[in-house]
Amino acid sequence: MNKDAITRYPINEAARKRWSPRAFRDQPVEPEKLISLFEAARWAASGGNVQPWRFIVGLRPDATWTRIFEALDQGNQEWNKNVPVLMVAVGARISPFDGKVSPVFQYDTGQAVSSLSIEAIHQGLHVHQMGGFSGEKIHAAFEIPDDYLAIAVIACGYMGDPENLSEKLKKREFLPRTRKPLEEFVFSGKFGEAMEMVKW
Ligand SMILES: Cc1cc2nc3c(=O)[nH]c(=O)nc-3n(C[C@H](O)[C@H](O)[C@H](O)COP(=O)(O)O)c2cc1C
Repeated sequence: MNKDAITRYPINEAARKRWSPRAFRDQPVEPEKLISLFEAARWAASGGNVQPWRFIVGLRPDATWTRIFEALDQGNQEWNKNVPVLMVAVGARISPFDGKVSPVFQYDTGQAVSSLSIEAIHQGLHVHQMGGFSGEKIHAAFEIPDDYLAIAVIACGYMGDPENLSEKLKKREFLPRTRKPLEEFVFSGKFGEAMEMVKW
């Protein structure tokens, strides 16, 4: 299945090919590929180079995978049964500079996950991020301290055959991908005013 972004302007291949499938192959991910995902995350930018991201990684069917799976919302559990790798992206809330809640720890953690997602494409893998999970369950299951926050769960593996999904999910898998035009989010002069060069 081809879900490459249909872009108005050229972009790099991995960004074009990245998308979030729900059908994953029931096939483990090679450790050398998985470790490159974390290496890519490691080299993400972060405010003050604090690197607040942490990852809890489960390999099906280990206990970590099972605990992450059990914390997913029912709708997400439906398509995650075959996913070989489930991970939790956790952020350190407190800035080491002033001991207060960092205004950018979630932003930084998201950047690391973005790097990881692009590296996944480079490794022939796909990831699918999820906000649909119980943070309470994750925090309890992994004894995550209060000054850390479980931000997202990430499914990772080889893209599978959408024919194996339920009818409802299969339909969603084939829906065209949509995005706002550049005019709606690239401004100049005043907030909300499209920059001249992006006007179509
Ligand atoms: C923070 C975040 C939370 C998300 N939560 C879910 C989720 O709980 N379940 C799900 O199926 N997809 C989830 N997604 C995937 C988005 O729906 C998906 O990225 C978006 O529709 C764009 O599609 P694409 O990634 O294929 O380009 C989430 C994505 C992000 C970044």
